[in-house]
Amino acid sequence: MALEIGVLVSGRGSNLEAILESIRDGRLSAAHVSLVISSQEGVRAVDIARRFGVDTAVFDAGSLGLSRKEYDRLLIDSLNAHGISASSGLVVLAGFDRILSPEFVSAFPGRLINIHPALLPSFKGLHAQRQALEYGVKVSGCTVHFVVPEVDAGPIIAQQAVEVREGDDEESLSARILEEEHKLLPKAIELLASGRLRLEGRRVLVN
Ligand code: GAR
Repeated sequence: MALEIGVLVSGRGSNLEAILESIRDGRLSAAHVSLVISSQEGVRAVDIARRFGVDTAVFDAGSLGLSRKEYDRLLIDSLNAHGISASSGLVVLAGFDRILSPEFVSAFPGRLINIHPALLPSFKGLHAQRQALEYGVKVSGCTVHFVVPEVDAGPIIAQQAVEVREGDDEESLSARILEEEHKLLPKAIELLASGRLRLEGRRVLVN
């Protein structure tokens, strides 16, 4: 049976699209997206979900006026209602613009992953590609990792390096990293969904 996935988004949704296309084309066979939740109204990610016939929920953080704890409770309840819980399913953060509470993280132990546009532990947080350029690294990339309460600090599932070129600006580097994100995230989900990942301390081992 396919693993039920909930994807949390906030904007463009290109990583969501890559997941849905991978499932449609049979490259990601062990998973099914049952819910997309957006923290923003009117974003492309929600249109993509609808185009693929996936249930959507929009919880606009600004207009709901909830505390972080209340907002995250809403997320948990809605994921649970779609079969994604502590014991089953998977939550994927794909460009989600909110930091999740420890309560949310502990509701999905080993079942919550994020994609970040840098080679962690370098360049955590916002504008990772700009940070990499400003630091002057020659290689950056992307990382898929388990989520822990500390931002961008969880065990690393998969990484892909991307060369930084002399003529790069934030836009060109981000675009080349994004191309790799679109391959890395579905691959990591497939490993997880097919039960091939094992956690040993901080290390994620692939069987
Ligand atoms: C992606 O580049 C993702 O790695 C990044 O936001 C973008 C979302 O694009 N996430 C972070 O920076 C998280 N810290 P998308 O909406 O087109 O998938």
